[in-house]
Amino acid sequence: MRTVKVPLGERSYSIVIGRRVADRLGRACVKLGFAPRCAVITDSQVGPRHSPRVLESLRRAGFDPILLTIPAGEPSKNLGQVEALYLALAQHQLERRSFVVALGGGVVGDVAGFVAGTYLRGIGLVQLPTTLLAQVDSSVGGKTGVNLPAGKNLVGVFHQPRLVLCDLATLDTLPEREFRAGVAEVIKYGIIRDAAFFTQIETDLERLLGREEAALGAFVARSCEIKAEVVARDETESGLRAILNFGHTIGHALEAISNYEQYLHGEAIAIGQVAAARLSARLAGLPEADVERIRTLFDRAGLPTEVRLAPEQKKKLLKAMQLDKKASGGRVKFVLAEAIGRVRWGVPVPEKAVLEALAA
Ligand code: NAD
Ligand code: GLY
Repeated sequence: MRTVKVPLGERSYSIVIGRRVADRLGRACVKLGFAPRCAVITDSQVGPRHSPRVLESLRRAGFDPILLTIPAGEPSKNLGQVEALYLALAQHQLERRSFVVALGGGVVGDVAGFVAGTYLRGIGLVQLPTTLLAQVDSSVGGKTGVNLPAGKNLVGVFHQPRLVLCDLATLDTLPEREFRAGVAEVIKYGIIRDAAFFTQIETDLERLLGREEAALGAFVARSCEIKAEVVARDETESGLRAILNFGHTIGHALEAISNYEQYLHGEAIAIGQVAAARLSARLAGLPEADVERIRTLFDRAGLPTEVRLAPEQKKKLLKAMQLDKKASGGRVKFVLAEAIGRVRWGVPVPEKAVLEALAA
């Protein structure tokens, strides 16, 4: 078992990583001083598989949980779902010292986090992420929110969890494609912050893809350490935190123009990161050999690295990039790598260069 701290003053918390750490949930919540009434928010895929243990741990520690299940998938990230959850919390009489457990992937984490961050102007939140992506990224750092018809993640609030439990056993049931999508975020941490970690992924990729426990624990922990360090320096993304979006400007736009149906998030940002690496070679001094190392690693992980777009789709992609909420004053800024392990952010990039980088 490993513990990573997220140092944020009085809002500091621990990320506990290991097999069956979910069984510690009840006792940990007693230590956090929560009131007995609580809600476990999950989705229709995760709930049947993993909620019994979670509910049992809470009940054994004296809590009175209600189980709330949303349909699995991105369409559940909406305000209608949020309102239904608020009503259920009110019916179960949750109070200021009550708490919500988010049991699921990034969708559940974002919705449950937003509900916890806004119900009674904010109640306790424990993240229990069950996808690799959620364990290494979305459960840590306090970004929560939902989508509007006009775009993704347009409504949200920063609400840090009080605890994150990354139970590696929950990943046993995660479909292969979802697991590989999470690997895209793990690789991202090597590129943006830690060259030695990137090399370690190159060496141990097969062990990670084979979900070998020791490798998995080490990769999740190092990813969380990097995210924790960045979030601790810039909690609300006034600068440095933008580096976590390496490859995301193009990735988000690809997701948007394919109506969130063709690519998983991790797949879209794999293409986006390879394109960002190519742009980095042109504009930030990344050696061509490192572009190839990056492309090869995504390829070995079974992730897409290129996309060929028809002229009409190219126009849509550029427009979607302008609409991304990271754009400012209509200008799209990129995170580019100067070397593997070192990036700069806020770099303007000509549109023509973006299109050339997508399919070199
Ligand atoms: P997801 O939550 O949709 O989960 C993917 C699928 O796997 C779902 O069908 C889910 O039911 C299923 N699943 C989850 N855990 C499982 C398990 N252990 N066993 C079997 N099935 C399981 O997707 P995701 O990739 O985890 O998260 C994507 C979401 O996260 C997006 O909405 C994205 O915007 C958000 N996100 C948020 C942040 C943040 O900082 N808040 C960061 C990155 C991504
Ligand atoms: N996933 C990007 C962030 O947390 O800032």
